[in-house]
Amino acid sequence: MATWSLAAHDLVREELDQMQAVLDHLAGSRVPLLARACRHVLDGRGKRIRPTLLSLSARAAAGDDYRPSHDAVLLSAAVETVHVSSLLHDDVVDGASVRRGRVSVNAEWGSPISIFTADYLLAAVFQVLATPENVELLRGLATAVMRMCEAEVLQASSVGNLDVTEDHYREIIDGKTAALMSTACRIGALAASTESSRATRLAEFGRAFGMAFQITDDVLDIAGNAEEVGKPLGSDIRAGYFTLPIIALRNGADEATAAELRALLGRGTRISDDVVAEIAASVRASGALEYCQRVAGTYVDEALDHLSALPASEARQALEALCRGLLDRHS
Ligand code: IPE
Ligand code: IPE
Ligand code: MG
Ligand code: MG
Repeated sequence: MATWSLAAHDLVREELDQMQAVLDHLAGSRVPLLARACRHVLDGRGKRIRPTLLSLSARAAAGDDYRPSHDAVLLSAAVETVHVSSLLHDDVVDGASVRRGRVSVNAEWGSPISIFTADYLLAAVFQVLATPENVELLRGLATAVMRMCEAEVLQASSVGNLDVTEDHYREIIDGKTAALMSTACRIGALAASTESSRATRLAEFGRAFGMAFQITDDVLDIAGNAEEVGKPLGSDIRAGYFTLPIIALRNGADEATAAELRALLGRGTRISDDVVAEIAASVRASGALEYCQRVAGTYVDEALDHLSALPASEARQALEALCRGLLDRHS
């Protein structure tokens, strides 16, 4: 388990264990290959960060006398499964061969299996949550999935475009990552407390957390350690996604360097390991990583600001620590 998230996990360990049983249920299918593919990705080395956010938000909203409910555990499983479904699609789109430290479902069994496993899991979430009391929660989850799809289309339509702006990048990560994290925090709070202002604060916290989380993911894709990260490095630039480290590198480059960058990364060029290493070195030398750290830091500050409006509790403290830890996470 990643060290930056250990303390937070410890506080909600019991709920995470209970969630595992629900995940096992969701992964059940009468078709053995489908069940195997579900288990393969659900059992991988995932950080369980969205369920952790959900459980901690429930506690932070309700206060320290909160007792975990079956509903909150079910919602955690739902959020993790929606996330896993998005990963199965993402790996097909990105042509990724490693996920959660193991071979990806698309690499093991092919893209059709990955796509239908993703759709099966997404439908399973809506099936288990489909009761009249859950209508609002379902609406929230459905909206998050819609935002993720919109963002993926925005990202796909700017593949290979080195002129992509920082605002466009922020819009993409808001939809593809921050939306689900925000929803996780909001529905966790709603499941535990009737104080809607706390749910709103936690939703805002989750959004800012998600923005910082994706920026650090994009930094790790270029400057991380593949073994620790559990996925190969350089996959974004190979796929033609120019994320904040590259945008910052380009924005700070003189004309000649920008032209070189265009030649190396231009549309349709095959990007070798050497090019990935060269770009990583330029990113490091240019100060782009420090820039990313500053931008992520503004989201961390925003997230902490939202938390400060909540009553003090052990869960709030754990959320604060999780949030600060984002800035030096390695996995
Ligand atoms: C991966 O999310 C996709 C992004 C939003 C960057 P995580 O980094 O939370 O993946 P797992 O759940 O730990 O595998
Ligand atoms: C996050 O983007 C994708 C989803 C939210 C599914 P990435 O493409 O950066 O995710 P990784 O790096 O493959 O995990
Ligand atoms: Mg990807
Ligand atoms: Mg990534």
